[in-house]
Amino acid sequence: PRPILLTRHGESRDNVRGELGSFIKKKLANFVEKRLKSERTASIWTSTLQRTILTASPIVGFPKIQWRALDEINAGVCDGMTYEEIKRNMPDEYESRKKDKLRYRYPRGESYLDVIQRLEPVIIELERQRGPVVVISHQAVLRALYAYFADKPLKEIPYIEVPLHTIIEIQMGVAGVQEKRYKLMD
Ligand code: G3H
Repeated sequence: PRPILLTRHGESRDNVRGELGSFIKKKLANFVEKRLKSERTASIWTSTLQRTILTASPIVGFPKIQWRALDEINAGVCDGMTYEEIKRNMPDEYESRKKDKLRYRYPRGESYLDVIQRLEPVIIELERQRGPVVVISHQAVLRALYAYFADKPLKEIPYIEVPLHTIIEIQMGVAGVQEKRYKLMD
């Protein structure tokens, strides 16, 4: 059976040249090249954001595809603000999100439900693939993708832990879905 490997980008938005970033990138590339060595139909999917594209850059030998649908949840007017800043400057928004994180839509941005909806074509394409796929994306998006494959209820999605520097491998076989996790760093 063909695995789907989910992982968060290793580069950070603020420090794209960080040492940790390049360490993780190399680790990920080694892991992917080893894990998918004899797979001729494997592909690497990223979002359209630099931090996932750069994370994928040292991986060679597989086609790469960028999906806008894999971009991080759009925080609209809150993009770039810390949770503290949102709490201080937009307390009503902060409270509404806390009350219903699944449905809350950032002003001029998205909700988790919006993200789940835009992932539909990605999921259809993932299920159609004949070979393994490595998905390098972002926390909110990976929460939704993981929930789909691991069959988690909608209401849990905004709280699922998708740890950094970890590869979640999902195998869909006759006996259902199996999951393995690999850490890129101790
Ligand atoms: O920065 C965006 C995060 O990946 C999503 O986190 O939905 O828990 O705020 P949050």
